[in-house]
Amino acid sequence: MTVHDSGKVALVTGASRGIGYAIAEALVARGDRVCITGRGEEALKEAVDKLGADRVIGVAGKAHDVAHQADAVARAMEAFGRVDYLVNNAGTNPVFGPMADLDLDVARKVYETNVLSALGFAQQTWKAWQKDNGGAIVNIASVAGISASPFIGAYGMSKAAMVNLTQQLAHEFAPQVRVNAIAPAVVKTKFATALYEGREAEAAAAYPLGRLGVPEDIAGAAAFLASDQAGWITGQTLVIDGGIFLNAGVG
Ligand SMILES: NC(=O)c1ccc[n+]([C@@H]2O[C@H](COP(=O)([O-])OP(=O)(O)OC[C@H]3O[C@@H](n4cnc5c(N)ncnc54)[C@H](OP(=O)(O)O)[C@@H]3O)[C@@H](O)[C@H]2O)c1
Repeated sequence: MTVHDSGKVALVTGASRGIGYAIAEALVARGDRVCITGRGEEALKEAVDKLGADRVIGVAGKAHDVAHQADAVARAMEAFGRVDYLVNNAGTNPVFGPMADLDLDVARKVYETNVLSALGFAQQTWKAWQKDNGGAIVNIASVAGISASPFIGAYGMSKAAMVNLTQQLAHEFAPQVRVNAIAPAVVKTKFATALYEGREAEAAAAYPLGRLGVPEDIAGAAAFLASDQAGWITGQTLVIDGGIFLNAGVG
C-alpha cells in the first residue's frame, strides 16, 4: 500500500501497545512519520515493525527520565528533521485504595510519571522545533481527572494536574502551538484490565453507548487535535466516555 506523505512528524510516548499504539497507527495511516517510546525494548521493536520501520522509529526509556526525553526528541529530529506533534500518552496507575492510606512516595511517583513527564517532553519539543515552527500537543488525561473515582485518587489527582498543565501550556505556547487533552473513560487495554476483566458486560452496561472504549475510539480524536483541522482549538479537554458522564444527573 502506498501511504500518502503528510510531511509531518509526531512523537507519541508509551506507544508500544494500547491507546498510544492506536494513535501512532492513525498518524502513520494519514502519512505522518512517528517516533514512539516505551520502556520495554522488545515490545517497542515489535510495534515499530508492525507500524512500518520506513516511517517509524522507537526510542526506549522511562517517560519521566529527562535524558530519555532529550534523546527521543533528538532522535526524532535526526531521523525526520522536525517534530510537529507531541502526544503525551505514557502514564501509570500503580495504586488502588483510599486516599487516607495513600503512600505519599507512591503519589510522588505517579505525579512524576503522569505530569512531569508530559511537561518535560513538551519543553523538549517546544525548544527543538515547535517554538519556531508551530505544531500541537495532545495530552492523554482521564475522566478520573475530572471527577472523583473510587480507589484511584492518586491517579485522578495527577490527571487533573494534566488538565491544568494543558491549559497552562496552551496559554504559554500560543499562538505557535495548540495544546489540548483527551479524557477517556475505561478503554480496553492492558492498563485498564483490572477495571473490567471478568465483568465486562456489567461494566459496559453503565455506559449509555453500551460498551467500553477501544483504543481506536481515542486515536481518531488525537489525530484530529494534532491536525490543522483543529486549528482554532486550544486548552480544551475532550471527554471521550461512551456517555458515562451523562449518568451524573440527580434523579
Ligand atoms: N485504558 C484506559 O481505560 C484509560 C483511561 C483513561 C486514560 N488512560 C490513559 O491512557 C494512557 C495509555 O494507557 P493504555 O491504557 O493505553 O495503557 P497500556 O495498554 O498499558 O499501554 C501503555 C504504554 O505506555 C508504555 N509505558 C508505560 N509506562 C511507561 C513509562 N513510565 N515510560 C514510558 N512508557 C511507558 C507501555 O510500554 P512499557 O510497559 O514497555 O513501558 C505501553 O506502550 C495512559 O496515560 C493512561 O493513564 C487510559
